[in-house]
Amino acid sequence: MNLSELREEVENCKKCTLYQSRNKLVFGVGSETADIMFVGEAPGYYEDIQGEPFVGAAGQLLDKLLRSIGLTRQDVYIGNVLKCRPPDNRDPLPEEIEACVPFLYKQIEIIKPKIVCTLGNYATRVILGKTVNISAIRGKKTLGRGYYVFPTYHPAAVLRNPNMIATLERDFQEIKRMLQEKVEVPPPQPEQMELF
Ligand code: URA
Ligand code: SF4
Repeated sequence: MNLSELREEVENCKKCTLYQSRNKLVFGVGSETADIMFVGEAPGYYEDIQGEPFVGAAGQLLDKLLRSIGLTRQDVYIGNVLKCRPPDNRDPLPEEIEACVPFLYKQIEIIKPKIVCTLGNYATRVILGKTVNISAIRGKKTLGRGYYVFPTYHPAAVLRNPNMIATLERDFQEIKRMLQEKVEVPPPQPEQMELF
């Protein structure tokens, strides 16, 4: 299966109630062969209108951070845990995450990135499969299922707390370094395959 086939499947998804209130599906954007994938939480107001992730204020910050390490959104892949916008940007519900996250795993399977950079608590918890706190583990690379997981702050959180910006910028410099290193990712261990 490729990304456009998967997109078609997700366009028709009714696995949770969010398809009823959304405008556009926000499947994801970028390169099908990207070395790095960024994962946010869920579409917001502008994403829902345009059908593209990270196009609002948080997205402008993400674009700027990418530019700071010589990348554009066409060089990477950007997606979210949820593909449909929760009404009024409320937090995702556990049942919505459970319903939607298999699509994220399929995107990762197709793209096969070396690094999955999780933005904020929701993406980090979903990808690591455990309840962690982003401030405790951000900037620490761990081995995932055939890729490295690199958690950092969500750009929207940084917009609310400008004192976090320097840390986020430093994490992007670390991402640049990891990409230049051309890290070889060890194959997934059996116990990691059982996580999901
Ligand atoms: N915040 C997210 O988590 N994802 C988006 O696509 C936009 C804002
Ligand atoms: Fe389906 Fe995900 Fe949209 Fe829910 S949020 S309807 S699971 S695509």
